[in-house]
Amino acid sequence: MSLDQRRFVFVTGKGGVGKTTVTAAMATALAARGKRVLIAMSGAHERLSSMLGHPAIGHDVVPLGTNIWATLIDANRAMQEYGELVIKVRAIARLVFENRYTHGFFRAAPGLHDWALLGKAWWHTTELLQGQPRYDIVLFDAPATGHGLDMLRVPKVILDVVPPGILRRDAEQAWELFHDASKSGVVVVSLPEDMPVTESIELVTALRSELEFPLERVVINAIFPNLFDEAERLALTADSALFEAARRGQHMAPPEAALAAGVRRAAREDIQARNIERLRNAIGGETTLLPFLLGTAGTPAGIRELSRHF
Ligand SMILES: Nc1ncnc2c1ncn2[C@@H]1O[C@H](COP(=O)(O)OP(=O)(O)OP(=O)(O)O)[C@@H](O)[C@H]1O
Ligand SMILES: [Mg+2]
Repeated sequence: MSLDQRRFVFVTGKGGVGKTTVTAAMATALAARGKRVLIAMSGAHERLSSMLGHPAIGHDVVPLGTNIWATLIDANRAMQEYGELVIKVRAIARLVFENRYTHGFFRAAPGLHDWALLGKAWWHTTELLQGQPRYDIVLFDAPATGHGLDMLRVPKVILDVVPPGILRRDAEQAWELFHDASKSGVVVVSLPEDMPVTESIELVTALRSELEFPLERVVINAIFPNLFDEAERLALTADSALFEAARRGQHMAPPEAALAAGVRRAAREDIQARNIERLRNAIGGETTLLPFLLGTAGTPAGIRELSRHF
């Protein structure tokens, strides 16, 4: 299934692994191929606008370049908009949602806060412009939560507990879209290190076994170029005393210091190679490898460079 055919993509992964960077790169690639892309995201400190060379993004949808739009979703605002749809009379909805007691109640209701974000992002897939979908694809840059999948469980929770009505109808439609492998997919962003790879494998396993959501691909981000091949890495890390000293950063005079730097690099490349292999073997799906960009990753030039991988 090609990324270009999808209507909704959920980008997830642990905090700081590069979700926003990957979202920006994917959007750039899709837009260059003529797709109208909306990036929906949440969170107080959005970095997307600077990555794409644009002033800060607000809650309204703003164009970020040819074929790319973005919007910052605020859960409380989205919940109030929902309330207005459900309660219909705006003034009453305001009273309910701006009352600090009910406000607290809605925040505490399990899943409702998450649904406000995810449901609003999903809603953008239903928007029409002159009878045609306004956006070809919505990329949702999901907030880093304890477990990236909690948010994806929410439509199901709503289906289980909420009586028929607008909220339930929307959750049903969203759930259907998210399960449709020809229209939706999850992108799991990872790093070529032990912990992130273990967590990504768990995430993909849960995605497949429990939620049965289609996986679009796993992106392994920030990969260092290899200076050494496997035999050289083996040779460099073979001397355990030198390896230990290098690992501890023990002070050495040249030329040992240069050798120690080589040993550290070889060890790092080895960890990287093993983790890429481990992740690929475990998921057996499509993986995209992105290079580590020194200094430019958060800039429009860096995003353009990364976009070539999608
Ligand atoms: N391929 C890369 N090479 C070098 N630096 C990168 C790369 N990808 C991301 N970074 C840098 O890593 C940092 C985190 O990236 P980003 O903001 O995309 O992560 P995130 O997963 O969205 O984080 P958060 O969970 O805080 O939203 C940024 O400073 C970014 O520029
Ligand atoms: Mg981010």
